[in-house]
Amino acid sequence: MPTHLDFQGKTVIEIGAGAGLPCLTAALLGATRVLLTDVQQLLPGLLNNVEDNGLMGKVGVKELVWGSDESMSGITNLKTFDMVLMSDVLFDSEEMIGLGKTLKRVCGEGTQVWGATEMRPYRGECLDELRGQGFRVVEVETSQLSVDEAVEDGNTTFSIFEIKPPVAHNSESPPPPPPIPEF
Ligand SMILES: C[S@@+](CC[C@H](N)C(=O)[O-])C[C@H]1O[C@@H](n2cnc3c(N)ncnc32)[C@H](O)[C@@H]1O
Repeated sequence: MPTHLDFQGKTVIEIGAGAGLPCLTAALLGATRVLLTDVQQLLPGLLNNVEDNGLMGKVGVKELVWGSDESMSGITNLKTFDMVLMSDVLFDSEEMIGLGKTLKRVCGEGTQVWGATEMRPYRGECLDELRGQGFRVVEVETSQLSVDEAVEDGNTTFSIFEIKPPVAHNSESPPPPPPIPEF
């Protein structure tokens, strides 16, 4: 079980990036190809954050609406990312249908998916929805933030998950052979 992530030389995409902190950090820690994604309205803010951190040319910003084939078609080299990072995206189980679809499209063989989240009311339902789509969810760590760090609404528990895509989309074993045709 890893206690830290090594970003050196890695290709990383962030989904539902918001301000983009995880992926900006990955870029500053040596990731070589980094893509921040979110809905269109948030892209100008993400671009500002990329610029303010001196990461233009190293970090890209693209629209990626969960479950949308159209926005996925705008992303080149799908399935070639080493890592997918997601922070605080487990808040609406209905959104997980699109998110799961997007993860399956983005992940190639060996892609690692990491999610971090504070304790939210619908977190369990979100994880169950992803499990129902064939993802395996491994809770890596849960920590209690100290009182000084706690957010005002009292959500002090913070968890990190590895989310493993279904085997067919991130094969740990070879796919089954095709059926033998009947004559
Ligand atoms: C709670 S915010 C978390 C933002 C950031 N990752 C963080 O930790 O601060 C959830 C993010 O997911 C994005 N999001 C929600 N639904 C989405 C969807 N259907 N497609 C793409 N992004 C979505 C939102 O725009 C928002 O940036």
